[in-house]
This record gives sequence, structure tokens and C-alpha cells, in this order.
Amino acid sequence: MKKIFILKASKAKTSKDFSLNDLPGDGGRMDIVARCVNSAFFLSHDLRKDTEFIVVLEGGPDPPVTLRFVGSKLKYLSPDERCTGGLIKKALEKVTAKETESTPGIFVSKKSFLEVINELEGELVYLHENGEDIQNVDFDSDKICFVLGDHLGLSQDDESLLKTAKRVSISPMVLHADHCIIIVHNVFDRKNL
Ligand SMILES: C[S@@+](CC[C@H](N)C(=O)[O-])C[C@H]1O[C@@H](n2cnc3c(N)ncnc32)[C@H](O)[C@@H]1O
Repeated sequence: MKKIFILKASKAKTSKDFSLNDLPGDGGRMDIVARCVNSAFFLSHDLRKDTEFIVVLEGGPDPPVTLRFVGSKLKYLSPDERCTGGLIKKALEKVTAKETESTPGIFVSKKSFLEVINELEGELVYLHENGEDIQNVDFDSDKICFVLGDHLGLSQDDESLLKTAKRVSISPMVLHADHCIIIVHNVFDRKNL
């Protein structure tokens, strides 16, 4: 089972000019991005190699920028948020129109949320608290793309791009995006998928 998590980070900085000491403020909630990376990949002594994490950064000064983290290729990533922030800064030094690998397993491009969604292959799932309970959902593919909002959620325009997606809930409570990723992994881990 391959899982791809897609986060829209509506305020996250698109230049390397932010402080690793202030990922929430100066980074435009880059702390959320770093925590999602952590949740997507880290096991206690290993990385999840079957997982990808894509984040569309839409903050200033030059949005959009898309970062794609590929579990099977990742190197130099450690669980702390500052490390992830540092790798994101390196990626933001290398933004070009064509997707470029900035450090092993991290790819950077100018793709928009629309382009990212349109290029996805596999089953599209929109994670939302008002969706169908994940325990009752049959997934039809061995490649599933889970779309998540950040602290502001997704706009109506964003949601209009997800009309064909299954809307799936993992809890009756509204959760943080990084916690959602952990729970989704757990659901599939328990099924050995
Ligand atoms: C912090 S929440 C967004 C909160 C935002 N204020 C809103 O109202 O949309 C971040 C994202 O996590 C996902 N999410 C949160 N709770 C969820 C749940 N119970 N089931 C599935 N996805 C959830 C959604 O994709 C949401 O956009």
C-alpha cells in the first residue's frame, strides 16, 4: 500500500528567509509542515519508505512552491522540527520551474495546488471531520492520496477540486493535520496494509 499525504499550507513561506527559531510566526506556520513530515515518515528506528508527503506552500513572497518528500529516498532527515525546517530552507534555495531534487528525497517545484491535485494518480481521499468513518470505507486502490488542510482548512475553491474525492473522517473531533496522518497510518498498519 502506497500512501501519499497532500497538505495545503496557505501561509507557509516560499523563501528561505525565515528563522528556525520561529517556524510558527516567521515561517508562516511552517511548524505544521515540519510536524506533518515527522508524522508521515518517522517510526521509532526507521522511516516509512512506502509514503510520500507533498506540501503546497502558499505564503509570501513568491507562491506557490511545492515540496515533495519521498520516503524511499529521504536522507538527512531527523525527527526534530528544526532539522526539517533546515531542509525546507535548502529546498527553497533551489526553486525552478522544473521539479528539482534539493537534497536526497526532497523535490521542489513551482506547482500549484490545482496542478498537484490534477497530477495525482491513485485513489483521491479528502480527510474531513464530516466524511464517512474511515472504518467503514472500502479503498479500491493500493495507492491512496490523502488531502489535508492546515490550521485554516481548505477553501471552497480548493474543495471544488476534490469533487471526485471520497470524503473520509477519522474522528468525530477536529484534529491537527499531523495527528490525522498518524491515525491514518495506524488504520492501515493494523490491517497490515
Ligand atoms: C486543524 S484541521 C483544520 C481546522 C480548520 N479550522 C477548519 O475548520 O477546517 C486540519 C485538517 O485536518 C483534517 N482533519 C481534521 N480533523 C479531521 C477528522 N476528524 N477527520 C478527517 N480529517 C480531519 C482536515 O483535512 C483539516 O483541514
